[in-house]
Amino acid sequence: MSSTVITNIATLVTNDPSLGDGSPLGLIQDAAVVIDGDRIAWTGESSKAPATDNRVDAGGRAVLPGFVDSHSHLVFAGDRTAEFNARMSGRSYTAGGIRTTVAATRAASDEALEANLTRHLAEALRQGTTTFETKSGYGLTVADESRALRIAAAHTDEVTYLGAHIVSPDYADDPAAYVALVTGEMLDACAQYARWIDVFCEKGAFDGDQARAILTAGKARGLHPRVHANQLSYGPGVQLAVELDAASADHCTHLTDADIDALANSDTVATLLPGAEFSTRAEWPDARRLLDAGVTVALSTDCNPGSSFTSSVPFCIALAVRDMRMTPDEAVWSATAGGAAALRREDIGRLTPGAYADLIALDAPSHVHLAYRPGVPLVTDVWRRGIRQG
Ligand code: NIG
Ligand code: FE
Repeated sequence: MSSTVITNIATLVTNDPSLGDGSPLGLIQDAAVVIDGDRIAWTGESSKAPATDNRVDAGGRAVLPGFVDSHSHLVFAGDRTAEFNARMSGRSYTAGGIRTTVAATRAASDEALEANLTRHLAEALRQGTTTFETKSGYGLTVADESRALRIAAAHTDEVTYLGAHIVSPDYADDPAAYVALVTGEMLDACAQYARWIDVFCEKGAFDGDQARAILTAGKARGLHPRVHANQLSYGPGVQLAVELDAASADHCTHLTDADIDALANSDTVATLLPGAEFSTRAEWPDARRLLDAGVTVALSTDCNPGSSFTSSVPFCIALAVRDMRMTPDEAVWSATAGGAAALRREDIGRLTPGAYADLIALDAPSHVHLAYRPGVPLVTDVWRRGIRQG
C-alpha cells in the first residue's frame, strides 16, 4: 500500500466538528489530506503534513468528501420524455407513470439494464458521487424484482428492495394478493441481494397498513426499512418510518408538526430530494423547518426516469440552498455526512482517519461555490477508495 498527500487545499471539508473551525463541516483552511491505501490516514494544516510516498498539489481547490447519494432508482429501461413534456405543459405528476417504466424494464434484457445502470453510475461518479444507493421497483414480478436487485448488487452494497413501489398492474383488482406476494415469494427471492426494504407509502400506491405489513415482513428477514413518505400528500409514511426505526423517511414534502416532532425524536433521517420537486413542478419541502426542529437531513437525487431524471448532487445542493432555505454549509453536509447517516454508515461522508478515501476536488476555492455557481461542472477530481478516477 502506498500513501499520498494532497496539499495546497484552500478549504477542506472534513465533516468532523472537532477539527478546524469547529463548525459541523470541520473546515480547515490551507489544508492537506493523507490517503493510505483505501483510507484517510490524516487531515490537517498543509504545513504539518507527514511524509508520504506520493504528493498531489490541489492548486488551491476545495476538497470535500465524495457525495453519498442515498436514494436513486437506477435499474430501469426506457425514458419518460413525453410525460415530462406533458407535465411542463401543465399536467400534474402521479404515481401512475411508474407503469410506463415497469413495462419497458420488464421487456429489457439483463445486459441492457446493466448497461443503463453503469452509464448512469459513471455519470454520477463524474459529478462527485462516490457512494450510491439504488432500488428495484420497476419489475414488480418475482423474476423482474430479483434480477434488478442482482444487477444492482454487482455495483453497490446499498441495495433496496422496492417490490412495493406500486401495486403491480397484474394485480390491479387484488392489491391484497400483491402485498402477499411482496411479503412472501418475492421477498424470499429478493432478500439475498438487498440490505434495505422500502415502500412507496402514498395514495395510489400503498396505505399505512399495507406499508407496515411489508416493512415488518422485510425486517423479519433482516432487511432494514426506509420509506418513500409524504411525497405527494400528507399521510402516515413519516410516522410509520419512525415507528419502525427506518434509517430514512424520503421526500418529506408534506409534513405536519407531529411528523416533524416524530422525526426530531428519532434516529430516522429526513432525506430531501429536490430534483423531484423541480422536475414535477411541485411545492418544495421545507428544509428550514426540519433543521430548526433538530431533524437530521440528507440530500439526494432520487435519480429515476419519471420524477427526477438527474444524477447531479451539485444540482440538488444548489436547489436546496436557493429554494429550500438551506445554507450552503447545511446542504453540503446533508449531501455527504447526511447521506451517510441515511445509510447508517460512519465510514463514508467524512474525511477523518479511518474513513474511506472517497473525496472530490472542485475547480473553486470553497464548497460554497456548489450553490453559488449552479449548473457549472465544478468537480475536477474524484478519488474513490483511494483511487483517482478518470
Ligand atoms: O421517488 N415516489 C415514488 N417513486 C419515485 C418516482 C418513480 C417514477 O416516477 O418512476 C420517486 O419520485
Ligand atoms: Fe424515489
